[in-house]
Formats: sequence, C-alpha cells, structure tokens
Amino acid sequence: MSDTKSISVLGICGSLRKGSFNMAALNTAIELKPAGMNVAVADISQIPLYNEDVYAQGFPPPVETLRQQIKAADALLFACPEYNYSMTGVLKNAIDWASRPPDQPFAGKPCAILGAAAGLAGSARAQGDLRRSMVFLNMHPLNRPEVLIFQAHTKFDANGKLTDDVARGLIGEMMTALYRWTLLIGAK
Ligand SMILES: Cc1cc2nc3c(=O)[nH]c(=O)nc-3n(C[C@H](O)[C@H](O)[C@H](O)COP(=O)(O)O)c2cc1C
Repeated sequence: MSDTKSISVLGICGSLRKGSFNMAALNTAIELKPAGMNVAVADISQIPLYNEDVYAQGFPPPVETLRQQIKAADALLFACPEYNYSMTGVLKNAIDWASRPPDQPFAGKPCAILGAAAGLAGSARAQGDLRRSMVFLNMHPLNRPEVLIFQAHTKFDANGKLTDDVARGLIGEMMTALYRWTLLIGAK
C-alpha cells in the first residue's frame, strides 16, 4: 500500500483558442505530474466581462462554478500567456470575478505558473503581473523553477506536444515542486 498523499490541483489557462500553446503546456504538466497529484482544468470560456452591476445581482453560474472549483482545490496551476507585456484580459477577468467577496477563494492557496509566448521573454512580464495579483490575493506562489517557454511556436508539434526537452524537464520539476509546496503550505 502506498502512503503517497493525494492532492488536487485546478488548472486555469489564460488562452481560449483551440491551438493554445499555454493549454498545450498545461496538458504537458498533467502528463508529467507526480504520483498523488490530480489535475482538473477549469473552463473559463463562459465567464462574462466583469461588471459590478451584474455582481450586485449575484455571481453568474460560470463564475460560481469557478469559485467552487478553486475552493475545492488544494493548489492552483496557472497557464499564463502574454498579451502586450501583461496577462491576458481573459485570465485577469476570471481572477477579478472569482476574487470578489464573500470568502475570496484564492486566499491561502499554493499555486504555480507556467507560460508560453511568441517572444523571447516567454511570458515573463505577464507572469510577473500575475504574481503581483497573487500576492494581493494572499496566495502562495511557488518561486522556482520558472517555466518560460519562449518562441513557443517553435516548441510544439502539430498535435500540441511540447517537443523541447528543457521545457519538459522544467515542467516536470515544477510539478514535483508544486506537490511538495502544497504539502508544506498545508492542503486546504
Ligand atoms: C493581443 C496580443 C498581444 C500579444 N502580446 C505579446 C507580448 O507582449 N509578448 C509576447 O511574447 N507575445 C505576445 N503575443 C503573442 C502571443 O505570445 C502568442 O499569440 C501566443 O501564442 C499566445 O498564447 P496561446 O498560444 O496560449 O494562445 C501577443 C498576441 C496577441 C494576440
């Protein structure tokens, strides 16, 4: 009998497009996750644009679902594309909605970020902005390893398989580090 502790991770991807390199990177993370870790991926495609007047009427169902998924997860894994040197509006909008009171669900969550971008910085600027929001939301972001998949269009095959060994190695390391980090911080 194994004494491996089981933890649940919720993946959140900031790109909605079918051929997203960030979703492909998230799938690679799922492929390389350690024993004992389960990863589900949130669907944020139906979340409306944040509007305080709508919020005053209650959370829209896709937001409520996301909030429940975040609450239920032991840890979060963000796939963070870069648009105009920052995180995408899609990702920021989902975080903004989910973060509204009561009981903002991000507080205390261990989390990690990976990102793929066309440019040479590999989403570093977007990840920096996401990390800043994580601090405000009282999450516990993993520091290392950083996963910055630069020139992403050269690193995935036509089926979305990550072909770059360095990036694959870093993602595997990050998943193991996230597993340990979650146990250290204390699963929910
Ligand atoms: C509006 C927009 C802005 C972008 N800005 C950046 C950027 O600042 N840095 C960068 O490296 N790539 C930028 N890109 C290119 C993205 O990195 C590229 O489209 C990437 O594939 C997006 O992630 P995805 O494949 O997961 O959808 C931008 C793309 C779009 C559509």
